[in-house]
Amino acid sequence: MAEDLLLIEGTKEEQYKALLPQIEALLTGEDDLTANLANISAALKQQFNWLWVGFYLVKNEELVLAPFQGPIACTRIKKGRGVCGASWEKEAVIIVPDVEQFPGHIACSSLSKSEIVLPLFSNGKVIGVLDVDSTHLNTFDATDEYYLKQIIALLQL
Ligand code: SME
Repeated sequence: MAEDLLLIEGTKEEQYKALLPQIEALLTGEDDLTANLANISAALKQQFNWLWVGFYLVKNEELVLAPFQGPIACTRIKKGRGVCGASWEKEAVIIVPDVEQFPGHIACSSLSKSEIVLPLFSNGKVIGVLDVDSTHLNTFDATDEYYLKQIIALLQL
């Protein structure tokens, strides 16, 4: 599939609901992880225009930068470091309403004000994270967690 993404206006939930089947279609028949992470990043960035959307993958006990959309970013993050490393260590979604209040937050961009990080699981193990950064405070909530989880569940990990 290589059609234009249909972007919609509306509530956050309406936007996710319109995006989800489109991402599913993008991933259908493609089993290359890099390609799929790249298109998920691009689709989320296009629809929501967040500052940064992308993935880090665990390689040799570090998170290493993987496909993303947005400004350049730090390439390696150790377990427990920053929001991404904490999500990996705790094996949990972390929503940060104000990054300045998160001890150890790694500021890849000074424009980032709030963040959500979701772990990617394969056979019960964290193999990477999805990280989304916003230029506004308090951007992410349970709705983002719910739909972003559904989006990463489309990956055959
Ligand atoms: N802020 C993240 C680092 C990754 S960048 O934001 C792209 C963190 O604290 O883990």
